[in-house]
Amino acid sequence: MKDTLWYKNAIFYEISVRAFKDSNGDGHGDLQGLIEKLDYLQYLGVDCLWLMPIYPSPLRDDGYDIADYYNIDPIYGTLDDFRALLHQAHRRGIRIIMDLVLNHTSDQHPWFQAARADCHSPYRDYYVWSDTDQRYRQARIIFLDTETSNWTWDEQAGQYYWHRFYSSQPDLNFDNPHVQEEMLNVARFWLEMGIDGFRVDAVPYLFERENTSCENLPETHAYLKRLRKLVDEHYLDCLLLCEANQWPEEVRLYFGEGDEFHMGFHFPLMPRLFMALKKERFEDVRHILESTPPIPEICQWCTFLRNHDELTLEMVSEEERRWMWEQYAPDPCMKLNLGIRRRLAPLLDNDRRKIELAHSLLFTLPGAPIIYYGDEIGMGDNLDLPDRNGLRTPMQWEDSPTAGFTYGVPFAPFPRAPYAPQQVNVAAQIGDPHSLLNVLRNMIAVRKSHPAFGGHGMVWIETGNPAVAAYLRLHPEETLLVFNNLSGRPQAVRVPAEHGGRWIDLLSGQVLPLVSELLLPSHGYLWLKRVSEL
Ligand code: NOJ
Repeated sequence: MKDTLWYKNAIFYEISVRAFKDSNGDGHGDLQGLIEKLDYLQYLGVDCLWLMPIYPSPLRDDGYDIADYYNIDPIYGTLDDFRALLHQAHRRGIRIIMDLVLNHTSDQHPWFQAARADCHSPYRDYYVWSDTDQRYRQARIIFLDTETSNWTWDEQAGQYYWHRFYSSQPDLNFDNPHVQEEMLNVARFWLEMGIDGFRVDAVPYLFERENTSCENLPETHAYLKRLRKLVDEHYLDCLLLCEANQWPEEVRLYFGEGDEFHMGFHFPLMPRLFMALKKERFEDVRHILESTPPIPEICQWCTFLRNHDELTLEMVSEEERRWMWEQYAPDPCMKLNLGIRRRLAPLLDNDRRKIELAHSLLFTLPGAPIIYYGDEIGMGDNLDLPDRNGLRTPMQWEDSPTAGFTYGVPFAPFPRAPYAPQQVNVAAQIGDPHSLLNVLRNMIAVRKSHPAFGGHGMVWIETGNPAVAAYLRLHPEETLLVFNNLSGRPQAVRVPAEHGGRWIDLLSGQVLPLVSELLLPSHGYLWLKRVSEL
């Protein structure tokens, strides 16, 4: 029988193929390189890879500007290489989802080229044109640091075109039924090839309507339900993961009645994890989780600490955003749009205890976690590179000058000390049972063998200590008890009487008798299961 709910307790891993492993020495990572590294990903224990876009693209937005939806950019390889990757990944029990960019194409896409060249072309109406730049004034600008308007004048077309992201990414016109069909065909093409689903990019923006924010419109939901129907009818165990950087009530709508997305990123939780770590108090995390509406049983949140974009601060108040910038972006070059362009390890002061604790939260709170490539070894960033490129530097496999990433010249420079390949690399960590890599690997293995982590059941425990996030994860088969000490100092917590008794520490395998008080070391964490339930 097919396991159609596999995603609920899966570990996801996001990969920039360009930055992962180069097999042919041209300095860019590629599909054959990724195939070479599947054993590593299997060792780590990841269940599903999310590949950033690998379609032919002029790379004005690192592949999120697609010029051909039906091919692989030659930099990464061929369709046959992609088929080989799928085969090799599936052999190892690893699934692969790709980015599906519905909202916009590259301005180099033949549709846009035809549209701008001829107002009578059938492709003209594939995009959103206007004689003025005054329509849809209530739609916000997303790439605030670069774009001044969502309209750009096109000399050749003699009209403005609409774009929610870079001006090199014209929005498709989803009011056109042909566009709707084209994009379903794109999805069908890759699903037929055998992929396991899509991370669907920028879903809130598909339709535009006057006097609205042009986000989360009912038309958008109706279309996404069609996409889901296609998946349910023909590709039953495939996953649709929603990228909607919105408040929980809005994202909730993208789950529908279990008939729209299977999963959605929990954007508001992410900055609050960083707030909690800095304030040494868990209240913001608790508050956002308590204000997150329940989702259908078959659905799941996707939780994350970092990804390939800036640490976005759209889902916090202005005051919280200022505070986050003060705390986590002391140098102005670290700010980008409404966010912070830094990787996990530098954000957490390269402090091993904090990095582990952050993962303890990620792996034990509700949701299925996603790891951003390189964060499992504590890779740094290179802020000399513009935009978000500093977070997308080559994976550091070993301590050689090119970090075992390529035998040519890497497409981008590595981070400097203390994050250079000489200090941070897979080879050094893989043989060391106490390395970050192996500690996280153990967490992953434990997490996956406990269905409670993949369920929705969670109850906060009142410990009387605001620095210790303590909760039960409930499941018909087991009850787990988790403690996370956010403080840099040891903390004592009250253990409610009903939770006393003998527990097993799942991460070390040792038995721990819980009495009325528990002392946790600085940034310490415990994942417990009742001995009587073993
Ligand atoms: C969201 C992606 O994560 C980001 O990298 C991209 O720039 C925009 N969508 C536009 O596609």
